Amino acid sequence: MNVALGVGGGIAAYKSAELARALMERGFTVNVVMTASAEEFIRPLTFAALTGRKVITGLFSAASSEATLSSAIEHIRVAQENQILVVAPATADLLAKFAHGLADDFLTTTYLAFTGRVVLAPAMNTNMWNHPATQENLKILRARGHEIVEPDEGVLACGMVGPGRLADPQRIAELVAAGKVEPRRDLEGETVLITAGPTQEPLDAVRYITNRSSGKMGYALAEEAVARGARVVLVSGPVNLAEPRGVEVIHVLTAIEMRQAVMDHLNDATMIVKSAAVADYHRADAPKHKVKKTAARMSLELDPTPDILAEIGRKKGDRLLVGFAAETENLLEEARRKLESKNCDMIVANLVSQEGIGFDSDENEVVLVERTGETIPVRRASKRAIAGRIFDEMIRLRLALHASQ
Ligand SMILES: Cc1cc2nc3c(=O)[nH]c(=O)nc-3n(C[C@H](O)[C@H](O)[C@H](O)COP(=O)(O)O)c2cc1C
Repeated sequence: MNVALGVGGGIAAYKSAELARALMERGFTVNVVMTASAEEFIRPLTFAALTGRKVITGLFSAASSEATLSSAIEHIRVAQENQILVVAPATADLLAKFAHGLADDFLTTTYLAFTGRVVLAPAMNTNMWNHPATQENLKILRARGHEIVEPDEGVLACGMVGPGRLADPQRIAELVAAGKVEPRRDLEGETVLITAGPTQEPLDAVRYITNRSSGKMGYALAEEAVARGARVVLVSGPVNLAEPRGVEVIHVLTAIEMRQAVMDHLNDATMIVKSAAVADYHRADAPKHKVKKTAARMSLELDPTPDILAEIGRKKGDRLLVGFAAETENLLEEARRKLESKNCDMIVANLVSQEGIGFDSDENEVVLVERTGETIPVRRASKRAIAGRIFDEMIRLRLALHASQ
């Protein structure tokens, strides 16, 4: 079987030489295509010597003045003659170009002409990896059915510690040889009940009070859980977000409606993640008509809304319950207090006073405060990446809680 091995311009390009060899050891014929940037990191001669085959570099280098038609359309030939396209390292730039259909060099043009199996092994600096633009591009590429070999965590060439290191070339070769790289399905069999967004509590027919919340964190949690094989029920307050695919979405407006929807689905749930910013107060006797404006001062009498988290805490049994705490001060103290008083297994705490993260942002930075006494800081990352960490910890926590019983 023929593999087109695309090499992008990253520090890890030198590891592609080992990957080329590992693929050949597994019986593949390897045709290397390098981007111009990749040539800054490793010479085409290395791949030519290893594979014994011509290495393709420029889109137009094959088309000399005596070029025949067949050499002039070489990217189409490469696309047709290879059954698998493996790109390693897949740079942030290549992921963006593939996701959006840009075709300004041989590799990106070949990608567009290619109809076979695509395996992408990204490698880049942690911040580049966590950037919402990169994560959005990955989402597009995953939805297209491409297989992503997630980068490893560790010390990167730039000195940062985190995800971004090219997966081990031997492992990439094994995954290519084994067939489709299946996404992680470690939430299979779970029913995850998630709440997201704010609630709206009417003051009269046209006015309401609400909380600041875009719902992005809850929707990212739903997308992550469904991608990892869970059945997901998402109870959503009013937000401006598209419904995640494969998720059962129940739209509600008020805290009372949210409580009802949650209680209706509590029995089925094995994990509950309450990320919604539920209004704490409402006007129980809100008039059905519009209250006319006058010059007089007005005071409102508000009643507390039902405490949904506390009620689930009382009824949860052995379900895993995760709450959120958005605080402006004393973050850990408040998170621990909430963990105890609401009988949660974990609190995802964030300081909402920080610029650029939280509420409307695509990024967040949180601390996971767990029933086991552990406190795990999760550095600034896309909400989808944070969602991934939350589920990783929930799975670990369940095992730890079972082991201690
Ligand atoms: C020293 C150096 C190291 C780089 N390492 C990476 C990397 O590991 N991953 C990445 O996505 N981009 C990296 N870049 C940036 C890419 O080289 C740059 O985005 C380039 O346009 C990628 O081209 P390509 O995608 O066509 O290969 C690096 C740049 C330099 C100068």
